[in-house]
Amino acid sequence: MENEQMGLLMMKSVYCLLILSAVMAVQPALVNPSTRANLNIGVIYPGDRLLSRSYLYRPAVVNTVQSEDFIYRGNLTTRISAIQAVEYGYTQFANIWIINGGINQANVTLRVQSQVSRGYYYLIDIWGR
Ligand SMILES: *[C@@H]1O[C@H](CO)[C@@H](O)[C@H](O)[C@H]1NC(C)=O
Ligand SMILES: *[C@@H]1O[C@H](CO)[C@@H](O)[C@H](O)[C@H]1NC(C)=O
Repeated sequence: MENEQMGLLMMKSVYCLLILSAVMAVQPALVNPSTRANLNIGVIYPGDRLLSRSYLYRPAVVNTVQSEDFIYRGNLTTRISAIQAVEYGYTQFANIWIINGGINQANVTLRVQSQVSRGYYYLIDIWGR
């Protein structure tokens, strides 16, 4: 009788573990595969400078996806060599991607988008000369 109860208990815990691992396996698929949480493109060459450092912050808003565009504009001779955007602090699974300009150009426009009911906090560095 006691053995039977132990067996049942163990089966229940195994069942719980299975459910947990199933949920964890599914989670990465929820992130849109065409966008990235962080952006790191280009190469910083000797002589390049940090042209711009910016922080983009929005607190979470319930049931809302938040979005904004970040624009860096150089002058006629500016050449962007690298763009680095990293989530500052813990991840909120936000996304950031280039919508205009970029490497080897004078300007770049980045679009930032939060997950539903989350915010974002990005550190954005633009390198070049
Ligand atoms: C143009 O921008 C570069 C940085 O990309 C800077 O070093 C340079 O001084 C600027 N030139 C003028 C005329 O403002
Ligand atoms: C970069 O931005 C400046 C200022 O808005 C604009 O005059 C110029 O045409 C842009 N350059 C490119 C290559 O998009």
